[in-house]
Amino acid sequence: MDNVLIEKLNLLLKQVSIISLFKDHYKVLHRGGSKYTVQCPFHKDGNETNPSMSVDDDLGLYKCFACGASGNIITYLREKEGMAFKDAVLYLGRRFSIDTSGFFTKKVSHRDMLYAQMKKINDFSCLFFAKTLLSKNKNREYIYSNAVEYLKKRKIPFSVLKEFKIGLAPPKWDALFNSLKNVKDIEIKNMFDVGVIRESRKAQGKYFDNFINRIIFPIINERDEVIGFGARSIDGSEPKYLNSKESILFKKKHVLYGINVARTSIMKLDRILVVEGYMDVITCHKMGVTNAVATLGTATTDEHITEIKKYTSNIVLALDNDEAGVRATKNAIYNALKVSAKVYIIGFEGAKDLDEYFSSKTKEDFDLLEEKKLVWYEWLLMTSLEGRLLNDVKIEERLSMANMFHRYLSCLESNTEKDLILGYIADKLNIEYNSLKKDYQYKITNGGNKLSKIEGKNKKDDYRKYENSIIYLLTINPWLIPTAEKEISPDLLKKDIVREFYIRLLTLPSNADFYQALNVLANENVSNRIKSKSDLYKEDALDKLNELIVKIKGDDIDNKRDTLKKESIASPLKSDEGFEAICDKAREIHLLNKQKEKLYQGKNL
Ligand code: UTP
Ligand code: MN
Repeated sequence: MDNVLIEKLNLLLKQVSIISLFKDHYKVLHRGGSKYTVQCPFHKDGNETNPSMSVDDDLGLYKCFACGASGNIITYLREKEGMAFKDAVLYLGRRFSIDTSGFFTKKVSHRDMLYAQMKKINDFSCLFFAKTLLSKNKNREYIYSNAVEYLKKRKIPFSVLKEFKIGLAPPKWDALFNSLKNVKDIEIKNMFDVGVIRESRKAQGKYFDNFINRIIFPIINERDEVIGFGARSIDGSEPKYLNSKESILFKKKHVLYGINVARTSIMKLDRILVVEGYMDVITCHKMGVTNAVATLGTATTDEHITEIKKYTSNIVLALDNDEAGVRATKNAIYNALKVSAKVYIIGFEGAKDLDEYFSSKTKEDFDLLEEKKLVWYEWLLMTSLEGRLLNDVKIEERLSMANMFHRYLSCLESNTEKDLILGYIADKLNIEYNSLKKDYQYKITNGGNKLSKIEGKNKKDDYRKYENSIIYLLTINPWLIPTAEKEISPDLLKKDIVREFYIRLLTLPSNADFYQALNVLANENVSNRIKSKSDLYKEDALDKLNELIVKIKGDDIDNKRDTLKKESIASPLKSDEGFEAICDKAREIHLLNKQKEKLYQGKNL
């Protein structure tokens, strides 16, 4: 038995109780502490009248003073119940609810090896890119002078280049690939899996570098491991940034670009600055704002926040100054509040991102700006008012602003804090505090389940009804269609007609209105029904959509899980492959369970 298996076995033995197993079949006398005397299973067919086997439950060992049988829970299962070792382990897993799915597979160590290989490839590539950027010819001139010029134009000093290990993928088809081929023990398949090379579309088995003629920003995690690359084009080719592909090493929704450099400062200042892009991080550092990291794109996921919470609970957001940035900020606020982080927002004007901001501003300007940062609820209100005076805002909109807060407030644990914020909102929107609070409490006590109001108290989820609801909801609120599109792929909808309607709605232009939506459905009957329900679906539309998303995705997870369960019951346990297949299925089921758990915590939305 290898060491890993012994370790796993010891862990398993610590988690089980041999006494609780014996109690099912034999007479058990408690002697005190973890010591028991048990009717011996091994002689007299387990029917001896005077128990003579001594058992220590903590040690997990038994010894019979009459027949001499001795061992632990595994020996018992093998010798008495005739189980094979593997079956015994699986049985214990089921009996004591312990996950044994990874017990015998070699996958764990295989995965470790793969991880190490991928890291080695990335390390090598990182060095290769850095060297390439600064390589010179005989006349001591930069070979890739245009790249050096580009970085100069973007005002990145040499010290920052070094700190962030910035490099260049040269304008050649296979420069890195050729170098990597000469490194011992590196397999082409792994170069491909980690995403530094790609296969030719025309000629199978022919490989090219993935990054060509691009500035390379290595993405380095908090353990200083190069987990991937961001590569910016310098010749105008698209996409502007090409990132490493997803792999066991690179998981985009976890990545905080710059965390390796910013980590210490984040802890010292006890706050993190979250920005959007590579260049924002780099410019911030250059300017002395050393606690900046980027989430690489717009979404700040739960995973990002979890990473952040390792270092600080104070999150300052300074995402891009555009519509996408505003949406991303709202999402980030919600995700942060869910895990009780404190969230602030820095607003800057006249620049699209912090990189641009610093082209005309100093560190002192930024410090002043940061001092004036808004707490999340101040920012939310300010953003929805869009600079208008309250008098210029219609009552309907004021109401929806007040309602917008429910979602965020429900994340907070402290009632006092909720109260104070409600007071603030009431004041700012000129609403009577008590009514606001009553409405809020009403929502909470009604379980926040907006759908039950529509669908009646049908607790047994009737997905068919939910499927209809999505069409009603989106037709009545076409502005929700892009959000729905992101979350619900049409194949998740089971009814053909609903799927058809859904797909039609997805084809609408982004600013389509109610009548356009009705038109595209092209069904008078359905149109009439939708019109009659219009009021019901207008209120709290976004919350309703989120609930539907959870229902539909949850249903999908349930189905997948049921299929897997059926498959694992059907497959034979005899062979090693059968066994591994079942382990794989168990693992998948476990993952699906986790996914569902997450979904129901309101995550992923
Ligand atoms: P932006 O388009 O705002 O780029 O994307 P930027 O950071 O201002 O880049 P520069 O200043 O023009 O060089 C923000 C971030 O979104 C991701 C990158 O992480 C980028 O930094 N992104 C953007 C991509 O991954 N791919 C793209 O094609 C574009
Ligand atoms: Mn920029």
